Amino acid sequence: MVPLTADDLEKLDQSDRLRSVRDQFELSPDVVYLDGNSLGPLPKATPARLEKAIRQEWGKDLINSWNKHNWVSLPLTIGAKLAKLVGAGPDEVACCDSVSVNLYKVLSAALELRPDRMTILTEESNFPTDTYIIQGLMRQLGNHHTLRFCDPTSLEHPGSSHQLDDSVAVVLLSHVNYVSGRLLDMAAVTSNAYRAGALTIWDTAHSAGALPVDLGASGADFAVGCGYKYLNGGPGAPGWVYVARQHQAGAQQPLSGWFGHAAPFDFERNFRPAEGIRNQLCGTPPILSMIALEVGVDLACQVPMKHVRDKSNALIRVFLQLTDERLASHGFSVASPRDPSICGSQVCLRHSNGYPIMQALVAHKVIGDFRSPDILRFGFCPLYTCFVDVWRAVEVLCDVMVNKEWDQPEFHKKKAVT
Ligand SMILES: Cc1ncc(COP(=O)(O)O)c(C=O)c1O
Repeated sequence: MVPLTADDLEKLDQSDRLRSVRDQFELSPDVVYLDGNSLGPLPKATPARLEKAIRQEWGKDLINSWNKHNWVSLPLTIGAKLAKLVGAGPDEVACCDSVSVNLYKVLSAALELRPDRMTILTEESNFPTDTYIIQGLMRQLGNHHTLRFCDPTSLEHPGSSHQLDDSVAVVLLSHVNYVSGRLLDMAAVTSNAYRAGALTIWDTAHSAGALPVDLGASGADFAVGCGYKYLNGGPGAPGWVYVARQHQAGAQQPLSGWFGHAAPFDFERNFRPAEGIRNQLCGTPPILSMIALEVGVDLACQVPMKHVRDKSNALIRVFLQLTDERLASHGFSVASPRDPSICGSQVCLRHSNGYPIMQALVAHKVIGDFRSPDILRFGFCPLYTCFVDVWRAVEVLCDVMVNKEWDQPEFHKKKAVT
């Protein structure tokens, strides 16, 4: 293969059909931001929108804004927009709570729908909160359930997994694994689970907004997603929850707060669930955070996910080629799939000095992150990442290695957030 040059990457930027989208983000030209899979950057439109929400809606219109500015419907109006990004009906998604809380709600509901089955099937390499939520719920339900770990890729093959026996109530998996970046075939896993009588819950924190997700066509039963990563909703932005239409009447989530009541402002004594996806809501929505998230969702809705996916594959191909050409000799190995069809929008490199190397990179404004014990994670979010960013990241990484810059004491100090 002919080695890549900076010129090649500039040409790729010139023909990039998403090029102008980067201008909609507040990103300094001297920063290479490869951490949108942890926290998306600030859309330029967000501060003005928040300023209006604060000064006019909250400041002037006060409590009238719940009606006048439709604050009360934001969880569902944003949910309907999100639905377009994930192949769901507008009445199947609500924007609310964190990924963790939404997982708790849908897992509780799913287990209630399968009372005769006592196994929850998941993967050991889950983002930890997913397993913690399962464990907490199992404890709350009296420890009658069994938590079983499996290799999730085995569930992609019909009949090949002995894991899907008739004790399995729920299969809970990440669509894209947060460390390895492995993208599962959602449709295949879901249909194998369905044939085995199990329900599926998909954690799409690392896929929704980064690549085409089709919950409806895949037949997914439940899903949850994140607002602060690929949807650029801001730190701690609310997440979202999907409940397939056919489960909405039967699936009761346990956090029966007043926003999920059929008539919240009738102030009835007893809980009566709202019909449809609204019964996933619990308490008063965080309006300012939702308004910020809506800006990010609107931005993501402007571009076809197919274009996003094509560009992310191209960015990853270029990064992998440069890694092979220039980084392999420094002890890096690729820990994410090389086949773009089974990889999310990130590349993970393994190195025994991964932590200080990443700190040295960040000091040079090439921002990725580190996942214990030895993974350097680089997110390639096509809405704002340019091909020349990839070139620059590899250049800086080479310099950091050649000059052994990473070995300065300050880069070894562990920070609270890595
Ligand atoms: C795959 C995955 N699931 C769940 C979470 C946790 O989300 P939250 O903090 O909103 O509960 C994260 C956070 O990074 C994640 O990457």
